[in-house]
Amino acid sequence: MAKVGIAGFGTMGSEIALVAAAADCEVNVYEIVPEVIEHNLRRLPKVLRMMKRESSEEERTKVMARIEASSDPSSLADCDIVIEAVLEKLELKKDLLSQLGKEVKEDAILATNTSSFGVTQLASASGRPDRFLGLHFFNPPSQMQLVEVVPGLLTSEATRDTAIAFVEKLGKKPVVVKETPGFVVNRVLVAMAVEAMSLVEHGIATVKEVDDALRLGAGWPLGPFKLVDLVGLDVFLHACESIYSETGDSKFHPPLMLKRYVSAGLLGRKTRRGFYQY
Ligand SMILES: NC(=O)c1ccc[n+]([C@@H]2O[C@H](COP(=O)([O-])OP(=O)(O)OC[C@H]3O[C@@H](n4cnc5c(N)ncnc54)[C@H](O)[C@@H]3O)[C@@H](O)[C@H]2O)c1
Repeated sequence: MAKVGIAGFGTMGSEIALVAAAADCEVNVYEIVPEVIEHNLRRLPKVLRMMKRESSEEERTKVMARIEASSDPSSLADCDIVIEAVLEKLELKKDLLSQLGKEVKEDAILATNTSSFGVTQLASASGRPDRFLGLHFFNPPSQMQLVEVVPGLLTSEATRDTAIAFVEKLGKKPVVVKETPGFVVNRVLVAMAVEAMSLVEHGIATVKEVDDALRLGAGWPLGPFKLVDLVGLDVFLHACESIYSETGDSKFHPPLMLKRYVSAGLLGRKTRRGFYQY
């Protein structure tokens, strides 16, 4: 995988680009908002310093020089793998993947970083379902080791194997997961956080007590409420609704407490207030 393409240079796309550049790949980025490009090209050197503490300034400059960002989708045309990391909106993703399926070279793999949409339906939109799969990175990609590798119904074995090798080249740990709502990590986390909210709603423990209990008694690095504050309450509610609507399983039913916080605009760290104040 000499050349990597990234569509969407936001929270996830920017750091996936950085991880690939740090693994010696040339990276072409396509992002529609020029300010986002400027912002993240300024931010990434700081992230890189945290990621590679032992590296010299010269090495870091070389890594950053491997990232080229533009607002022209044709810049992705000669990439060997393109990872789509645009907003979690189904029609947006389908339209973009359909366009990329036509523009990107024939034997390239297209991947999506979606957290909630079916890989197979996005694969169909791309027009190359055998060379398409989900590569689900975790936030922040510069720090988190796991990538869930999610083949769709028509993904070829060769595509899956190439993608696994690519993830390993990035220094990440691939775990192959069957296509299912929430994959593995979000499926388990959502169920646990919903249960945590139910305890608070029933007056059994406070937000802080539940967080302390899970941290000190179960070895969680962050309690469930601190974690949801970090992810964003709106993002978490979307994950909950999506898994619940696909499975109909009550353990994923979006808690009233969560909906009320989101309605009030208390979205977590990004708005300086969620379950906690920042
Ligand atoms: N944020 C997380 O914690 C997280 C974790 C895992 C997976 N994901 C998934 O990653 C994807 C991206 O999420 P994010 O948090 O980085 O979102 P984000 O909003 O930070 O970034 C998305 C970027 O895509 C750009 N964009 C929108 N339309 C575009 C287009 N047509 N062409 C090119 N760029 C376009 C936007 O300008 C924005 O910069 C989503 O599918 C999300 O579900 C997010």
